[in-house]
Amino acid sequence: MYKVCSLFAGVGGIDLGFLETKQCDVVYANEFDPYAVKTYELNFDTKVDNRDIHQVKVDEIPDFDIMIGGFPCTSFSVAGYRKGFDDDRTGDLFFEMERIFKERKPRVVFLENVKNLVGHNQGQTFKVIIDRLEKAGYKDKIKCQVLNACEYGNIPQNRERIYIVAFRDKEDFERFEMPMPIPLDNTIKKVFNFTSMVDEKYYYRNGKYKGNMVEMLEEAMDDDNTVYQWRRKYVRKNQSNLVPTLTANMGEGGHNVPLIKTSYGIRKLTPMECFYAQGYPKDYKLPTDLADSKLYKQAGNSVVVPVINRIAENIMKALR
Ligand SMILES: C[S@@+](CC[C@H](N)C(=O)[O-])C[C@H]1O[C@@H](n2cnc3c(N)ncnc32)[C@H](O)[C@@H]1O
Repeated sequence: MYKVCSLFAGVGGIDLGFLETKQCDVVYANEFDPYAVKTYELNFDTKVDNRDIHQVKVDEIPDFDIMIGGFPCTSFSVAGYRKGFDDDRTGDLFFEMERIFKERKPRVVFLENVKNLVGHNQGQTFKVIIDRLEKAGYKDKIKCQVLNACEYGNIPQNRERIYIVAFRDKEDFERFEMPMPIPLDNTIKKVFNFTSMVDEKYYYRNGKYKGNMVEMLEEAMDDDNTVYQWRRKYVRKNQSNLVPTLTANMGEGGHNVPLIKTSYGIRKLTPMECFYAQGYPKDYKLPTDLADSKLYKQAGNSVVVPVINRIAENIMKALR
C-alpha cells in the first residue's frame, strides 16, 4: 500500500480517486474548514488535522509516498481575483505544499487546479510552480495536462482542470501516461432525479420569488435534456446533456445552483446531485446537520472523482 498525504483535503474527492485504486491509504489529511472536515470524516477513516496548514510542522506529518492536493484556486481562477501569488490571502498556499515536498521528497506529487493556472500572469505563476518542483528534485519528471471531465471521466460536466504529476524517480515518470479520452455515455438523466419528487424547497414555484422570474424560467426551460442557469436577467441554456462547471459560489445563495426541468417542475439540483455531478459514488454520505449552502460549496470546490481515479490508476501502474 502506498501512503498518501492529502493537503487541502476538502471533502476528499482526490483522496477518493486514489483510494478507489485499492493500493493507497491516506495516512495524513489536512483541512481547516470545520464543515468540510465533518463531511470528510463521515466518509473516511482518516482523522483530519484541522489546523491551518501554516501551523503544521513538516516533522509532524507521518511518512508518505504520494502527496495530493488541489490547492485553493481563488487566486488563480478567472472567477477569482486574478492576482496569483500577489494575493496574500491564498496565493501562498502552493508554497505550503512546497515546504513539505521539498523536505520529504515523496515519490509522487499530484496537484490539481483550475485550467487558468496555466495562462495566469502571462504564464509566470505556472512557471514558478514548475520551477519549484524542479528545484525540489522533480526536474524533467513532470507531466501535466488539462482534462475535461466530460471527455476523460464519463461524467456529463464541462469541467476543465489542470493535473500536474511530478515523479521523483525517472523510471516511474517514464512508465506514467495521462489517461486517454473515453466516450461519454453517461447522461444527466442517469445522474439526476427527473422522475420523482425531491424536497419542495428545491422547486421554483409561482409566487415564491419576486418579479416574473418563474415565468421566465418556465418559458425558457423547454428541454429536459439540458441544464439551465438563472443569470440575473436571463436564462442561460447550456449544451445538451452537460452540467456547467460547478463552483463554490453555488453556496452563496441567490440562484447560483444549476436548474433542471423535471416531471414535478423546475428545480435546482440538490446538494447530493451536485456531488453526483462530480462523479461521487452513491454510497457517499452528506452530514444531515449541515446547511445546504455549506454542502453546495463543498461540492463546487471538489473534483470529478473518476478523472482523478483514472490518473491515480496510471500512477499506480507506473509505481509498480
Ligand atoms: C479547492 S478546495 C479543495 C477541495 C478538495 N480537492 C475536494 O475534493 O474537496 C481547497 C481547500 O483548501 C482549504 N484551505 C484553504 N486554506 C487553507 C489553509 N490555510 N489550511 C488548511 N486548509 C486550507 C479550503 O477550506 C478548501 O476546502
